[in-house]
Amino acid sequence: MSAGTGSTVLEGPRVLLRPPRPDDTKQTFAWYNDPEIVAPYDRFSVDSFEEFERSIRDAPDDPTSLAPRFVVCLREGDTPIGFVGHYVPHPVLETIDVWYVIGAPSARQKGYATESVGLLVAHLFDTSPLPRVGATCDVENQPSVRLLERLGFRREGVLRSALFHHARWHDIAVYGIIRSEWAASRPPT
Ligand SMILES: CC(C)(COP(=O)(O)OP(=O)(O)OC[C@H]1O[C@@H](n2cnc3c(N)ncnc32)[C@H](O)[C@@H]1OP(=O)(O)O)[C@@H](O)C(=O)NCCC(=O)NCCS
Repeated sequence: MSAGTGSTVLEGPRVLLRPPRPDDTKQTFAWYNDPEIVAPYDRFSVDSFEEFERSIRDAPDDPTSLAPRFVVCLREGDTPIGFVGHYVPHPVLETIDVWYVIGAPSARQKGYATESVGLLVAHLFDTSPLPRVGATCDVENQPSVRLLERLGFRREGVLRSALFHHARWHDIAVYGIIRSEWAASRPPT
C-alpha cells in the first residue's frame, strides 16, 4: 500500500497541503501539544519536541504512524493553519484512516478543514488500491461528524466505551467512504 507522502503537494482552491518542513515544526508542535486545540474530544499526551520531530521524519516509511503527514496552508500567504494525517489503524484489516486538526482558531468554520480532508481522501484513493477510506471520531465531536458527513462518509457503527479521556469512557463513531461513493460524489474532471 502506498501511504507515504514524500514530496507530494496537494492543491485545492483555497488551501494546499504540503509535507512538514523543519521550519513548521515549532508551530505544529505547539498546536499538537495544546489540549485546548487538539483534545476536547480526544485523549491527550504530551510529546517531547525531539519525539515529535522524529515521528514526522519517520512517518513516510511507516504506514501506521500517527504523525502529521501534511501541513495545511492557506494558499494566500502560504500561512500554516493546521495539519492532517493518515494511518493504517488495524494489523489485519486493509483500511486506512484519516485525521485532521485546524490549529489556528481563526481558521475554523470556514470550510478549510473540509477542503483539506477532501484533498487527502482524493490523494489516498489516487495512490492506493484500497476500496475504502475511514475515520473515527468521538460521537460528541460534532464539528468532526459534520465534516465527515459533508464529505460523504457514512457512519458504519459505534464502538461503545472505546476511548478514555476527560475522566470517562467515550463512544467512538466509525466512518467510511467507499471508492465508488467518493467517485460518484465528485464532479468529473
Ligand atoms: C474537526 C475540525 C477539523 C473541523 O473544523 P471546522 O473548522 O469545523 O471545519 P471546516 O473548516 O470544514 O468548516 C465547516 C464549517 O464552516 C462553514 N463555512 C463557512 N464558510 C465556509 C465556506 N466558505 N466554505 C465551506 N464551509 C464554510 C460550514 O458551513 C461549516 O459549518 P458547520 O460545521 O456549522 O456545518 C476542527 O473542529 C478541529 O480541528 N478540531 C480539533 C481536532 C479534532 O477534533 N479533529 C478530529 C478528530 S476525529
